[in-house]
Amino acid sequence: MASPSEAAHPPEAHRGAFSSRRVFILAAIGSAAGLGNIWRFPYVAYENGGGAFILPYLVALLGAGIPFLLFDYAIGHRFRGSAPLSFRRMSRTGEMLGWWQVGICAVIGVYYAVIIAWALRYTIFSTNEAWGDDPNGFLFGEFLQVADPGIGLDFVPGVLVPLILVWVVVLVILGLGVQRGIGAASVVFIPLMIVAFLALVVQALFLPGAAQGLNALFTPDWAALADTGVWAAAFGQIFFSLSVGFGIMITYASYVGRRTDMTGSGLVVGFSNSAFELLAGIGVFAALGFMAQANGVSVDEVATSGLGLAFIAFPAIISEAPAGALIGVLFFGTLVLAGITSLISVIEVVISGVRDKLDLSRTAATLAVVVPSGLVSVLLFATTTGVPILDTIDYFINRFGIVLVAVVTVLVVTWAYRELPDLRAHMNLTTSFPLGRWWMVLVGGLTPLVLTFILVQEFRDALAEPYGGYPAWLLTFLGWGSAVGVIVFAIVAALLPWSKRTRLDKPASLVTVTSDRSSGKAER
Ligand code: ALA
Repeated sequence: MASPSEAAHPPEAHRGAFSSRRVFILAAIGSAAGLGNIWRFPYVAYENGGGAFILPYLVALLGAGIPFLLFDYAIGHRFRGSAPLSFRRMSRTGEMLGWWQVGICAVIGVYYAVIIAWALRYTIFSTNEAWGDDPNGFLFGEFLQVADPGIGLDFVPGVLVPLILVWVVVLVILGLGVQRGIGAASVVFIPLMIVAFLALVVQALFLPGAAQGLNALFTPDWAALADTGVWAAAFGQIFFSLSVGFGIMITYASYVGRRTDMTGSGLVVGFSNSAFELLAGIGVFAALGFMAQANGVSVDEVATSGLGLAFIAFPAIISEAPAGALIGVLFFGTLVLAGITSLISVIEVVISGVRDKLDLSRTAATLAVVVPSGLVSVLLFATTTGVPILDTIDYFINRFGIVLVAVVTVLVVTWAYRELPDLRAHMNLTTSFPLGRWWMVLVGGLTPLVLTFILVQEFRDALAEPYGGYPAWLLTFLGWGSAVGVIVFAIVAALLPWSKRTRLDKPASLVTVTSDRSSGKAER
């Protein structure tokens, strides 16, 4: 017979569930390993002390990243809901935190899809080196048709078509649900991505000049450790790369069977993500070393960040390297796979929140979220002004969205709701690696301290000089506007009533739950 608590929280099968711990771990690795690992990490490491960066990186990973990942897992797994529902069940006043995270995911999703669309096009361009001998001119001219100067809202068909394709893929995967969609896509895409990326790294390591690139990446600049900016960079990288603090891991953990070892799973996900990141650093810098040697210049002259690295430096490498087309297809193909598995996790945060709040079916909620997101994505980014808009929103939502919401969440949960002891006890019920008090010190003390420090620095920088030299209206409306807009959205969403069918009371602790038959059953 069902316990009173199970009656209050009927089996969660209708929300969807991963069929096994293995599928959950693959989905979580898919979310974590994304564009941030492949194009962000190598350059951040290189810029911030090279080999010496490993030290702040490890401190950030072990001291804050993995503890925060376990914090997210504990919330989703203990409260069994989307971010808004989990926080609502934690406390009556908590819901807004969840909607803030949902808002951030909605914003990230609309531009993240665009980068995947570019990578999709470049996978095809790689086969015939469509950029000729001017990858820079090709990217901003022929391909993106960047309007200069001023605003141009003409559609760019070369971006429009792959972008629509990306959103159709997202619609299909998420429409199929947690196990048949997210789970199945992760089981296929993640091994494929790992094999493709290993092939790419091995190929890059055999290029002439590869050692020069690796030397540049790994030669430690110990003096960098005295620079607080380097430590801030390490923490920022870890948070973005692990997908922690903005609802993703809460949502995924709510789809996992009650008796699953979440601590062990978190360690597997955290270390796999870092292994992938390190591998990306090795592959990218081996290729940059080749490029530097071929042009008789030093590595710092060819090492660029983000957009420039993937869409300018890599095409140049592809043009000059032996079997360049293969390198191109592997590199951009991996970006697409890594990007899609992260994008679906970002959009699932929104779908899950909407479903819980309105008690919609999977199909209705997927359509209600993906179609408008796709439309905004197309209208804003498939135009000739897409690049500055993307760059601005990315900068502001990362700093004043992800980092800010992480600080506020952890402070409220630790010091206002005083939930850490309960979350710790919950995690320790099913694991062979129990969390000690040190976990609460790291999550409730060290993490908010360091993140607040990073935030203050970033705030000062943003006020000191206009980001990217962009016009004030762009920075105000789309930059600050998106960071403030998600907070306004959160307040409004939290004021709207819940469906009468959604249970808002706290689920019983695992100790009183005698059976778990929910995993892997069909979704409504
Ligand atoms: N964690 C994802 C990435 O690295 C968002 O891109």
